[in-house]
Amino acid sequence: MSRIVVVGSINMDLVTLAPRFPGPGETLLGSRFFTTPGGKGANQAVAAARLSAAVTMIGALGRDAFGDQLHAGLAKEGIALDHVARLDDVGSGSASITVAEGENQIIVVPAANARVTPAQVEAARAAIARADAVLVQLEIPLDTVEATLRLGRRENVPVILNPAPAEKLPTEWLRLASYLTPNQHELATALGAEAQTDFRELMRRAPCPVVLTRGGEGAWYRDDAHPEPVQQAGFKVDAIDTTGAGDTFNGALAVFLHEGLPAAVRKACAAAALSVTKLGAQGGMPSMHAVEAVLAR
Ligand code: RIB
Ligand code: NA
Repeated sequence: MSRIVVVGSINMDLVTLAPRFPGPGETLLGSRFFTTPGGKGANQAVAAARLSAAVTMIGALGRDAFGDQLHAGLAKEGIALDHVARLDDVGSGSASITVAEGENQIIVVPAANARVTPAQVEAARAAIARADAVLVQLEIPLDTVEATLRLGRRENVPVILNPAPAEKLPTEWLRLASYLTPNQHELATALGAEAQTDFRELMRRAPCPVVLTRGGEGAWYRDDAHPEPVQQAGFKVDAIDTTGAGDTFNGALAVFLHEGLPAAVRKACAAAALSVTKLGAQGGMPSMHAVEAVLAR
């Protein structure tokens, strides 16, 4: 069983389905509204837990109704929550999501997620030292991301840095990451490169191994064993909602990392493909059995 630690955000997603995206000042009639658990950190934790990993989450929630629901949801997935702080003076994170024309638009309000501290990471040192892999994203304070990268290095545990949402990052941090898992736009932004630079060129420029996600087209990877970018084709599915596909990919990549990068990337592509066939970031995140079934087909 893989042991995974996730340092990251927990949000309530407020999802509206619409025929198209409204313009500024425009009002549209949507077809459906629902709330569903999300946040890049929580999504990655749930993706790993569904694949039978033992998952510890480090994060923060408000002591509000969303916080209670999100806490209960993560507990139900079997995720250890001892390092998730409940804060009295701030609300839980939220994401207002519009899904239209097979795409999404998201506005995240970090709230409690902006209060995940480096001290929380230090306090979870024993769990991190025991982990097979650590996952971290950019919806929490950057000093906490840095503390995670440094502790992973110190404890010799691989840290997967998912640089989302897009942000320019110090080269030193990129060097500290065992794997960087951006999409094309996030990689260009992280490196401070021109947006239209060829993604393979960006992958060569990164100072650490890179696994680059390409939506329905699958993923590309480059590491010391594969100095030239290698493609893993995507698995064909009917996409209903792509929210959380990247998170499913990251959670699965962490779980399967011990099988070697090519196998892990292939399985992560299969898991991500399954996730987009159901509504909601965590809806459609597959079990081990479901991933094996796709790989065998
Ligand atoms: O990656 C998808 C997630 O981004 C959503 O669940 C939303 O909460 C935002 O954090
Ligand atoms: Na989904």
